[in-house]
Amino acid sequence: MKHQATSTVNRGKAITLATKPKKSVWRSEGIALFFGDSLEHYHEWGQPVVIISDGGYGILGFEGDTSDHLDLPSWYESHVKAWSQYATPQTTLWFWNSEIGWAAVHPILEKYGWRYQNCNIWNKGLAHIAGNVNTKAIRRFPVVSEVCVQYTFEARIDGLQLKQWLLREWTRSGLPRRKANEACGVIDAATRKYFDQGHLWYFPPIEMFTKIQAFANTHGDPKGRPYFSLDGKQPLTAEEWGKMRSKFRCPHGFTNVWDRVPVNGSERVKASGRAVHLNQKPLDLMKRIVEASSDEGDVIWEPFGGLFTASLAAWSLRRKAFAAEIDSTYFQYGVKRFDQNLFQFE
Ligand SMILES: C[S@@+](CC[C@H](N)C(=O)[O-])C[C@H]1O[C@@H](n2cnc3c(N)ncnc32)[C@H](O)[C@@H]1O
Repeated sequence: MKHQATSTVNRGKAITLATKPKKSVWRSEGIALFFGDSLEHYHEWGQPVVIISDGGYGILGFEGDTSDHLDLPSWYESHVKAWSQYATPQTTLWFWNSEIGWAAVHPILEKYGWRYQNCNIWNKGLAHIAGNVNTKAIRRFPVVSEVCVQYTFEARIDGLQLKQWLLREWTRSGLPRRKANEACGVIDAATRKYFDQGHLWYFPPIEMFTKIQAFANTHGDPKGRPYFSLDGKQPLTAEEWGKMRSKFRCPHGFTNVWDRVPVNGSERVKASGRAVHLNQKPLDLMKRIVEASSDEGDVIWEPFGGLFTASLAAWSLRRKAFAAEIDSTYFQYGVKRFDQNLFQFE
């Protein structure tokens, strides 16, 4: 039988405010911060282009965190399920955790349709341990990293992955595969890239998709028309096709290893000289992922707000944000951060 979990009441807290939040939702300029359990609020949030998850780590890091990674899958499952209900093929999920925490939750993410894209490593460097580790006692290398794993929500049409659907529609048209090259005006790239059924498959850019679709609907077997349609009546529009995958752009020179010292100094939210939240994330890393996976005006979700760093990043980049924090003290300090910063982003 599993041991009784250690109590997490007031875990890791430098300060607990006796005051309660004045309002249960704080709103300003496209930002909505909810005091409470995110599970009860997802239904009132706009459709997410980005979800930034920074929840349980299995290290008793905050009140309600689990005591080890074994409990993390059940801690996350109802959230992951809800995210997939509200996600679209445009949605990117950034999943922050420890390496083992992520490994434990990965099967749950897969189960609900989230597809692994990349594991990014936050290297906090030696500053994180400040030479204080007794490696003889811990018998491993000191850990100075966390991961921020990129997932996308897989688009499916008629239950098929896009690469399967593209090939099925072309095959249905009765045209030989090589004719797709003619449709796209290339020598062999179209057949090779867009109809591959393995990892060499490429998402056809809008321009190429439109050409393939027009060719099939003009030269394909008239009996099966329309081809490349969602409803069997109208061919898919260019705009609809463009929304079939997540957004991503990487500024020049960025890699998946993020060297960045832990949050400290004036960046740390403090009360009486002590850190208010031990898990406060660097604002610049949050901005990096928001910027990479969304455009101005897009909706960002932050289900485990803490001090709402992701929402602050979203706000400064002119995105919309919906976030929740269940702890009254963190919520109040998180809101304060916005009140203090308001003028900076005008
Ligand atoms: C790792 S911390 C997030 C820190 C945050 N990224 C920051 O930069 O401040 C996780 C937070 O999620 C909160 N939390 C846990 N379960 C929650 C839930 N179901 N709904 C809302 N907040 C929750 C915890 O109280 C904790 O403050």
